[in-house]
This record gives sequence, structure tokens and C-alpha cells, in this order.
Amino acid sequence: MKTFHLTTFGCQMNEHDSERMKGMLAGLGYREAAERDGADLILFNTCSIRENADNRFITHLGEAKRLKREEPSRIVGVGGCWAQSVKEEVFRRYPFVDVAFGPGQIHRLAEFLASDSLTAQGYFEFEGFSGDLPMRRERAFQAWLQISQGCNCACSYCIVPSTRGRERSRRPADLIEEAQTLVGEGVREITLLGQNVNSYGRDLGKEERIGFSELLRELDGIEGLDRIRYTSPHPKDMREDVIEAHATLDSVCEHIHLPLQSGSSDVLKRMRRTYGRDRYLDRVAMIRERLPDCSLTTDIIVGFPGESDRDFEETLEVVEEVGYDGAFTFLFSPRRGTEAAELPDQVPHPVKKERMARLVELVQERATERARRFEGKTVEVLIEGTARRDPGALRGRNRQNRTVVFDGTGGVGQLVEVRIEATTSQSLRGTEVLASRTFA
Ligand code: 5AD
Ligand code: SF4
Repeated sequence: MKTFHLTTFGCQMNEHDSERMKGMLAGLGYREAAERDGADLILFNTCSIRENADNRFITHLGEAKRLKREEPSRIVGVGGCWAQSVKEEVFRRYPFVDVAFGPGQIHRLAEFLASDSLTAQGYFEFEGFSGDLPMRRERAFQAWLQISQGCNCACSYCIVPSTRGRERSRRPADLIEEAQTLVGEGVREITLLGQNVNSYGRDLGKEERIGFSELLRELDGIEGLDRIRYTSPHPKDMREDVIEAHATLDSVCEHIHLPLQSGSSDVLKRMRRTYGRDRYLDRVAMIRERLPDCSLTTDIIVGFPGESDRDFEETLEVVEEVGYDGAFTFLFSPRRGTEAAELPDQVPHPVKKERMARLVELVQERATERARRFEGKTVEVLIEGTARRDPGALRGRNRQNRTVVFDGTGGVGQLVEVRIEATTSQSLRGTEVLASRTFA
């Protein structure tokens, strides 16, 4: 039996795509190898969102080159966004690569492997959803559901529209059927994936077109599906109906990841985000009013070209005002082919670093404050495993997506109630409430 080793970089969409690759490889008779040096097929699923994603991958690719030299019959494959962004150039720069493919051509990997082709092959035209391929899930009780692929936005810093193409939605009937199958297999929590989930459906034909909030409602109707999450929505499409869905549908979790990127309307304009600071804060106000218990998290880019001290202060103001439960913070990284890479007034690296340090401190301060709202409360936790630093304790997440570390007896994949006693910067700490009411 042949073996493969797959390394995944990047976002949840890539993790999902990797599960599909594994499912497809299992169908071809491949078994997963624990180590890269024991594999006949060395695969990478790459990301290109920021320069450090590229750099990390290139180091790994160096090892693949060495392994291929030792054993030339090994196959080296590179899929995902970085492959899509460089296309055929991958073979010129890294001649030991046998097969390269973008996110819309994962099924071509199977074709390549089945054909015994001796010449290197690249596949870069979108042909299908990875969501239509067989899947090998990492966890029995949680699953991804790819609802769309690609993005129609034109954010000036972002490489995704050029790597994943225009937005295409999968058919609602296919999604519902897939969700039903997953639940039948024991899945309790589904995370809907798309580059811009809340513009779901706009490209579908009239007869089958539904919007994102309707999709949430349909999925909520599936018996046995306890939790629905999604990522990422775009603030411009965060309408009342979606917020209402959170308020009225039991399975839709109280967590919204709402990427801010910058708190300055000037910067947002140059980012081509199509909303300003006030519009964003309006959405937040609407969420806070309708969903007082909802967690809000965000993405913020520091040091976008032309970001002045004042612009940055405005980002801090928004962070202060919103009080996020958490934020992913990124140094602006010029990506080739994007508009922002060519903009004047690139911010010097030391300035970016200094701003980042201030931002991270404020985010953490506010996030810790926000977490305190759970102290003394009993929350529902889906158990994911044992605690990383304390194997005697259990670990899971509450509906607001906070990590909870607790003492208890529940099993992995069960929903239990946990009383929260303390807050650390990373997690909530508590004890399982026994007997009174268990969900599982
Ligand atoms: N530089 C820095 N951060 C970026 N992101 C996307 N492109 C870039 C870039 N060129 C960030 C955005 C996005 C997240 C997934 O990555 O904040 O929401
Ligand atoms: Fe995901 Fe974007 Fe990275 Fe592609 S470039 S893997 S879509 S984060």
C-alpha cells in the first residue's frame, strides 16, 4: 500500500480542502504516513495570504527536495493558494515538484496519480468544489461544510480573489443533504466555510437561490445538529436577517467573527472594504442590541500603506469601543499582484512592530475583561479532548467559542454543562456540573 504525507498551511478552508484530499487519497488506496520521510507521496496544501506563510512553506519544501533526491520515485505535490499564485513558475523554480494544482483542481491530483504520468503537471483552472470530494474528517463530532468558494470583493491587500477566483456557491440541496449525512455520522457541530459566507447564494440560479440566513434556517432544522458556526462574513453583508438568525435559531452559536481590518475610514477606503468606521460600528451596535451575549472577534491589519499615527489611533479607538473577545492581528504584507503592494507610503517595519505591540496589548486587555462575564455562570461545552497543559483536565469550547478547561467526567464529543470559576488570558476554567442536566 502506498503512503502519503500532507502538510497544511493557511486557513480553515485549507484544512477542509486537506480533509478532502485525504478522503480522495484513501479512495485511491493510499494510507497516511506519520512522518514525511516515510511517505511515497509528499503533499503540501499551501497558503499565500502573507509573506511569512510563503516562507514557512519554502522551508518545508526544502526538506521534500532532499527526500526526493534520496528516493527519486517519491512524488512531490503542491496544492493550494501559493501554487495557484505562481502557477507554472513552480516547476521552473522547484524542478523536483511533480504535480501542482490550485484550490479548484484538487480532484486532478487523483487523475495525475492514477495516470502514472512521468512529466510534471500543473492544474490551475477552476473546475469544481473540493466540497464535492470524499472527506476524511479529523474529528468524528465536528465537520466543515464548504458553502462557497472564491470571493468577489476587491480588497486591495488581498491575494485570495486571484487564488480562489470569483465566488461560486454550492447548491442548497447539496448542502442540506451533506449536513444530514454528517449528522447521521455523529457530527454535532458544523462550521460553514466560505471566503465571504454571508454573500452566499447570489450567484445561484433563480429557482434554487436562497440567501445566507435562509441557509442557516434550513440547517437549523436538521434534527441532531447542535451547533452551527460560520467563517468568515463580510461586514458589508452583515444584515439584520443574519443577526436575527442568531437570535432565533437554537443551533446558530453566539459568536460572530467580523473582520474590521482598520478603524480608520480613510484606510478602509484605500483597502476597498466598502464600509467606513461608522457603518461598521452600526453593525456592532445592532449585534450588541439583539445578541447581548454574543462574542465578537475580528481581523486587523497593522501598517497598511499610508496608515498615519492618527489612522492607527482610530483602530485603537474602535477596539476599545467594541471590546472584542479576541482578534487576529497581522502586519501588512505586500502580496504580489495586489493593488496595495504598489501603493506609496509603505509603513517602515519598526513602526508596524511598535503599533502591533500596542494593539495586541489593548486587544488582550479587553478580551480578558470580556471573558469575565462568564465567571460564576454555567455554560454549554462541547468536549474536544484533554487540556494541552494539564492532561488531567478536559478541554472544549462554549457556544461563544471560548476555550474552556475543566474538571469533569464527560467524553470527547459530548455536550456538558460547566460552571466557570476563573478566567485566564487563554481560557475559562471551571468544573462540570453533573447530573442536574446533561445534553448528551
Ligand atoms: N497583509 C496582512 N494581512 C492580510 N490579510 C489578508 N491579506 C493580508 C496582507 N496582504 C489578513 C486580513 C484577513 C486575514 C485572513 O488575513 O486581516 O482578514
Ligand atoms: Fe486560505 Fe487565503 Fe491562505 Fe488561501 S491564501 S489558504 S484562502 S488564507
